[in-house]
Amino acid sequence: MAAASTSSSSRLAFRHHQQLAPYSGSHPQTPGSVSFLSGSHSFSFKSLETTRRSQFSRISVTVKAESRSEEMQLDISLSPRVNAVKPSKTVAITDQATALAQAGVPVIRLAAGEPDFDTPAVIAEAGIKAIHEGYTRYTPNAGALELRVAICQKLKEENGISYTPDQILVSNGAKQCIYQAMLAVCSPGDEVIIPAPFWVSYPEMARLADATPVILPTSISENFLLDPKLLESKLTGKSRLLILCSPSNPTGSVYSKKLLEEIARIVAKHPRLLVLSDEIYEHIIYAPATHVSFASLPGMWERTLTVNGFSICNVLICLFL
Ligand SMILES: Cc1ncc(COP(=O)(O)O)c(C=O)c1O
Repeated sequence: MAAASTSSSSRLAFRHHQQLAPYSGSHPQTPGSVSFLSGSHSFSFKSLETTRRSQFSRISVTVKAESRSEEMQLDISLSPRVNAVKPSKTVAITDQATALAQAGVPVIRLAAGEPDFDTPAVIAEAGIKAIHEGYTRYTPNAGALELRVAICQKLKEENGISYTPDQILVSNGAKQCIYQAMLAVCSPGDEVIIPAPFWVSYPEMARLADATPVILPTSISENFLLDPKLLESKLTGKSRLLILCSPSNPTGSVYSKKLLEEIARIVAKHPRLLVLSDEIYEHIIYAPATHVSFASLPGMWERTLTVNGFSICNVLICLFL
């Protein structure tokens, strides 16, 4: 196989049989090629062979220096942690819907949690104004103070939960927030309790955090809401995080205050158990249902990580917050 060679001295490039990593680099390459920056090396390599023994085994390529005769095995395997993650079902379904739409099939897309309206003009204009006014610099890691103050105000007024700005963390989307929360609280072997049907990313995030997802089934007769008795029977000393998503993706079910209180009574018996309350669909709700924040229930504030975001209800999908 031919290799992309470099004259600029700092690029190591080679091709291999499978597409293992995203294409990068300025040289014309075929799909399936990868290139690496290799510090200050001043030679390029020719790829001779690629081996991939199984999905999770070591992946290596044999490379040969153009300027020298020796060959070397380069290990380009992904970590066991990344290999344990399954491909995104949301992306798979979205791709399938796109392919059908391109083939002229009328498709209603229900895969990605994206509203069918555009970003409200007032939000778009405020964003453009902020960019023009120079709000484009690094902020504190937790997010701009003015934003965290505004978030505290919203949580107090709309959700009945009191936070101070130092208890708020702004991230690049709710997905990042949830994953970071799992990384922050889960130890290897801990269990993350997920009522099904669930947003497909939860179990993969738990696995990435070295925790074990424990899926609790729900039924249509119970409106896909978690049965407190089932929850109680599944909690152990390993149970670390219970995920509640209300209004729910994908079912649209909304937990009533009464049901949340029942769940809270069970949760309260377990000193290691925290709750991640994913409230990103808070405003996509239909009367007579009303949204209740789990952290607003007596005794639950201390153990609840409340997650909300701007992507779903405010259609700020490209400006993840
Ligand atoms: C239930 C749920 N939580 C979190 C997210 C992720 O939110 P964001 O797009 O802000 O990362 C989604 C997105 O689809 C979702 O459906």
